[in-house]
Amino acid sequence: MSQNNHLDAAWQYHSGTKHSPLSIRMNPHFLDWDNKPLLFKIYPTLEVMRLPRDFQETGRAALDAIAAPPRQAQGEAIPNLETLAQLLFFSAGVVRSKKHEQGETFFRAAACTGALYEIELYVVCTDLPGEPIPGANSPGLAAGVYHFGVAEFGLRQLRAGDFRQVLVEATAGDPAIAHAPVTIICTGTYWRNAWKYRSRTYRHFGWDNGTILANLLAMSEASNLPAGIVTGFVDSQINELLSLDTKREVAFSLVSIGYQQSTPSGSPQIVPLDLPIVPYSNEEVDYPAMRKMHEASSLDSAAEVIAERGKTPGHDSVPSKGTTVSLQPPIDDIPADSIEKVISRRGSTRQFSRQSITLPQLSVMLDRATRGIPADFLDPFGSHLNDLYLIVNKVDGLAAGAYVYRWDEKLLELLKPGDFRDKAGFLGLDQPIPADAAVDVFFLADLKKILERYGNRGYRAAQLEAGILGGKLYLAAYAQRLGASGLTFYDDEVVNFFSPHARGKSAIFLVALGRSVTRK
Ligand SMILES: Cc1cc2nc3c(=O)[nH]c(=O)nc-3n(C[C@H](O)[C@H](O)[C@H](O)COP(=O)(O)O)c2cc1C
Repeated sequence: MSQNNHLDAAWQYHSGTKHSPLSIRMNPHFLDWDNKPLLFKIYPTLEVMRLPRDFQETGRAALDAIAAPPRQAQGEAIPNLETLAQLLFFSAGVVRSKKHEQGETFFRAAACTGALYEIELYVVCTDLPGEPIPGANSPGLAAGVYHFGVAEFGLRQLRAGDFRQVLVEATAGDPAIAHAPVTIICTGTYWRNAWKYRSRTYRHFGWDNGTILANLLAMSEASNLPAGIVTGFVDSQINELLSLDTKREVAFSLVSIGYQQSTPSGSPQIVPLDLPIVPYSNEEVDYPAMRKMHEASSLDSAAEVIAERGKTPGHDSVPSKGTTVSLQPPIDDIPADSIEKVISRRGSTRQFSRQSITLPQLSVMLDRATRGIPADFLDPFGSHLNDLYLIVNKVDGLAAGAYVYRWDEKLLELLKPGDFRDKAGFLGLDQPIPADAAVDVFFLADLKKILERYGNRGYRAAQLEAGILGGKLYLAAYAQRLGASGLTFYDDEVVNFFSPHARGKSAIFLVALGRSVTRK
């Protein structure tokens, strides 16, 4: 039996990885630059098939693509190889690089804690049409299991043949997976992020996977492909399909892409692959707390997977006590830059200018980011696990203060007025970014309710949802030529600040929004 219902595991992990001013002072961490991990997973013995890069822009406005309702399958929707390449590039590809004293950082399409890029992507697909690519035996992409080689922008084939039935079984017959010509599996590699963040990395799996998924969902929508996130699966079956060394790397989420009438009927046998991998570092440090959390949130059987679906816990509807302000999205003049353009220019703001943004701009970000996520744990569509609390520093048309976002009514309820810039800087781990931003959006969740409903698996879901919402906020900001940055925070101090309204909740994530200082 799995330990999914032994909720002490999630509470222990969460409490044990909280930041506080004291914990930061008592446990300083110095980065061992000589042991910095390689940021790419490379299978040196496998040929790489380079993917085409001459993408045709979808032209779909980013602000539409991130907010569209789930696309209902209308006939076959099978991506060709070129579209698959485009989805991978704009979700996790290298979009720019920067040289510095320690070497060169290759920045990717989605934001990631510390630019350490611990999330790997794998493709499991049927035969896909397309032009011939160098290194492949036939045009398009042959059915198989592939690793996305970000460094080369290519695919390495781990297994030849149609293995989609393994996914169908692992997800207890999830209908979207069963009809998907392509499923993308996202994994987390502990050491690549733990080098800097130690045990807190398991939270980052959710955040950093989430920002990738925000891009992937938007790009799928822009490519007219249905897409859905599946977090309920028998872990060992997916990990074995990828032949992962689970002490170091584990499957975290699946995304079904496209629709096909037929479903797979069987799969070739799965044998361990035992493939060498270029070492990440001279030595890796193990942080057992993360593996413990992962194991305790792993599912062992189809029955457990089915029990994870839907039935999203509701949110207590507390009547508003304070002043409320309705969102005011503009009716016209909404920026229409394409999703590709917006992803290409996105980058985390390193310094905010303290200038104001407008209430309509904030409204666009909140409205578009919160229109719902197609995920197996969220039912009905539009339900959510995280609540949004805001510190408004400078927004024209909105008094400075602390607010809670009343999601269903699209209202901001004032919890306390005042200038909280210094407080925001403190809560965001004493960094200037949240103090200088126009608005800070804190994600808080009622973990008690979530864990009672989903078991420890709910912890993964809460972190992942926050990352997706955060990723959407990033895109909605950059679509309006504003800036954004994900941030870490002092856990209990955040909850205390927003209490009594937030009492009993847990701090999950933070995104700062505003105007970036433009560097010459
Ligand atoms: C979940 C998350 C948390 C982050 N936390 C911080 C932070 O605490 N401080 C900071 O300066 N940047 C933070 N960042 C920004 C990352 O450093 C940045 O995404 C990374 O360097 C990659 O650069 P890019 O976003 O410009 O592509 C965070 C980003 C994410 C996605």
